[in-house]
Amino acid sequence: DLEEIGCKYEQVAEISEFLLSRTKHRPHLGIICGSGLGGLADKLEEKDVFPYEIIPHFPVTTVIGHSGCLVFGTIKGVAAVCMKGRFHPYEGYPAWKCAMPVRVMKLMGVDTLIVTNAAGGINPQFKVGDIMIIRDHINFPGLGGSNPLIGRNDERWGRRFPPLNKAYDPNLIKLVERCASEINITSIMRQGVYVMVGGPSYETAAEIRALHILGADAVGMSTVNEVIFAHHCNIKVIGLSLITNKCVMNWDSNEEANHEEVISIAKKRANDLETLVLKIIENYTHF
Ligand code: HPA
Repeated sequence: DLEEIGCKYEQVAEISEFLLSRTKHRPHLGIICGSGLGGLADKLEEKDVFPYEIIPHFPVTTVIGHSGCLVFGTIKGVAAVCMKGRFHPYEGYPAWKCAMPVRVMKLMGVDTLIVTNAAGGINPQFKVGDIMIIRDHINFPGLGGSNPLIGRNDERWGRRFPPLNKAYDPNLIKLVERCASEINITSIMRQGVYVMVGGPSYETAAEIRALHILGADAVGMSTVNEVIFAHHCNIKVIGLSLITNKCVMNWDSNEEANHEEVISIAKKRANDLETLVLKIIENYTHF
């Protein structure tokens, strides 16, 4: 039954009304905090916090290092809503459910979204602790048939066949570059292509080589579903990846990726990313 697939407008509206009737904030800006990057949400002032468990129709996070709540407040005077903890396909959620909170943001008035994530560095020049501005993505699960827009298209959100070539807003990429330079972190700034993989197992050396050949600079298990929903409903997107590990490309290496390292590096290096996001908000005259 096609009615069973995808995201119901009425459910999203119900969630949005539930939240707006319990907070005075009217957010223009949405922020999705990646693994170990929840500190951004703590920077909000006059916080209203909603654990995912109490929000109707909302999924709950199941991963250690991703506590789950929506946080409303103001940041640099801008009304914002933060997702502290996000949903991943490897938890068992369909792509549309991982992205659904973005549509809730849309109905609440959000028009700009900053998505962050922890990612593995594939580009050999990338170092642990670098921040990559996402210029484009490769949606590996999506190319294989797992796109969040699968199912009947509701025109209230957007078009049936949306283009994605400007999904990461070019003007906002320039803004991020200017902000990075103002806070003197250009030496750790990179720009590149984020590839989403399904996970939860980390990639083999052969997979990393393949992804490298395909043009990916960093790899992770999130973000693209949220970006597709955002672009579909005309929300502007900034994507930032914190490089938490270097991906292993040769069979002789004894290094291996592990979640504890990803979280601990993300927490250690989250400071630069948080400062950058604050600067972006300060300099984004649109609000
Ligand atoms: N691979 C996939 N996802 C990740 C990685 C990685 O190496 N690091 C952080 N998230």
